[in-house]
Amino acid sequence: MFSNHAGLLRQLSALLCVVAATCAVHGVAAAQESNSSIPRSSLPKELAQLSEAELSRIARLSPLPALPADPTNRFAENELAARFGQRLFFETRLSPVGVSCATCHDPARAFTDGRPLARGVDDAKRNTPSVLDAARRRWIGWDGKFDSLWSQALSPLENPAEMGSDRVTVLRVIRDDAALREGYEAVFGAFPQELAASAEDPLRAHITRTQAQQALVDATTANILKALGAYQRRLTLGEAPMDRAVSALKAGQRVAEDEFDDSAMRGLAIFVSRGGCYQCHRGAVFTDEEFHNLGFVGANGRVADDPARLAAVDFVKANPWNAAGVWSDAPSSPKGQMVRALRRSGELFGQFRTPSLRGVAETPPYMHDGRLATLADVVRFYDTLEGASPVGHHGEAVLEPLGLTDQDRADLVRFLQSLSGKTPNPEWTRDPRASEVRTNPPAGR
Ligand code: HEC
Ligand code: HEC
Repeated sequence: MFSNHAGLLRQLSALLCVVAATCAVHGVAAAQESNSSIPRSSLPKELAQLSEAELSRIARLSPLPALPADPTNRFAENELAARFGQRLFFETRLSPVGVSCATCHDPARAFTDGRPLARGVDDAKRNTPSVLDAARRRWIGWDGKFDSLWSQALSPLENPAEMGSDRVTVLRVIRDDAALREGYEAVFGAFPQELAASAEDPLRAHITRTQAQQALVDATTANILKALGAYQRRLTLGEAPMDRAVSALKAGQRVAEDEFDDSAMRGLAIFVSRGGCYQCHRGAVFTDEEFHNLGFVGANGRVADDPARLAAVDFVKANPWNAAGVWSDAPSSPKGQMVRALRRSGELFGQFRTPSLRGVAETPPYMHDGRLATLADVVRFYDTLEGASPVGHHGEAVLEPLGLTDQDRADLVRFLQSLSGKTPNPEWTRDPRASEVRTNPPAGR
């Protein structure tokens, strides 16, 4: 009875989320229900001055709730789809110039490339974010241009600056390679007969396809994208030192100093109080899943030369691959309602999604254009707001210089470093092609 009640409340809050412009993430709301508070009796001295409200912010930073379901991808939990997606993620042949997803999202660098701006076929305009825990995000990409993990994958494939490929090329490579085709067919059934190789190959790049063929190309492409989505759902972040510290605080126990020392504890206190970080990086996911303009001055010397969220809203609403579209497996789910309910408005100009801070120490450089090299630079930015225009036309009113001491800054950095945990499932983070060669000798031609 009670658990039903909680379920109903969660559904209700999910629905409200669709309607309201700002609201807590479903996951956060769910976590709040189960979260105990932090007893004052055994507080470490670094937290002794915090108010009840500040302590409850700390209580909400952990644990991470379960991964939200993605009903728009009916293969999301399918193991074989994920295996096939893993194969595709590392497959350089999907691109005519040999760029794979992993070229930029390199597992050895927490699925980033370590560069300020991404480089594939050409230079991209944005920094490469990690894909670890991307399945938690309400909107995908720095500007939230996609409303599902699977629909995002078409963009790098077809972006001339990234993989410089197209869906027909991708399908042809899969159709014509025994191992890839087998991977496809194990999940989705026979590769469409109508797209078979022939003298009039319907998967040649520049031929005119019949409407029926084109519809099959898109349906098959949707399967490929959903396999990539299923794979990336396995790329999650594990428990971090901060999680163990918060759990100890809740239990009134001593926090293990070897992994969460006094400096991290002071940084935590600043994060939920005078640092103001919690206003946007909040809850166990460390993001409000909303969009903000920090006032960075663009290359043109003025506030934001990148329309960001404003252009993204137009894009995602018009995108035939969105959660409300024909390729979605749940067009009337909350995700579908969310994209239909989106409205464009002038203040979205220059806004970027609040990134999660989990695992952030592993993914320098920082911000949507990689302009800040280290976490110390990021903290210095929030402290001084140097390089930001003072509340411009679309500026963000919450940000004010913080006046931190050197020690405060170091403490915040230390706290940010405590947010990294190992990914719990290492078999998903490796390139599967190496072992494949050993276990399945290539089929004779
Ligand atoms: C040339 C480098 C490059 C390649 C190749 C590339 N990406 Fe990305 N990826 C980026 C950049 C840059 C962004 C940020 C784009 C933006 O938000 O404007 C991004 C964003 C993403 C995100 C969003 C993460 C988040 O936090 O919202 C996902 C998921 C993703 N890529 C998956 C993929 C997949 C799957 C492939 C292969 C099909 C791929 N990427 C290929 C550079 C690359
Ligand atoms: C007004 C909301 C807001 C507040 C307050 C805020 N942030 Fe952010 N944070 C953002 C947004 C939005 C971005 C991405 C901005 C961009 O790329 O242009 C960001 C980016 C970051 C990044 C870089 C992440 C990455 O992957 O590149 C770090 C680290 C960070 N913030 C830490 C903090 C800390 C520490 C504080 C408190 C001192 C703080 N933030 C306060 C919204 C906020």
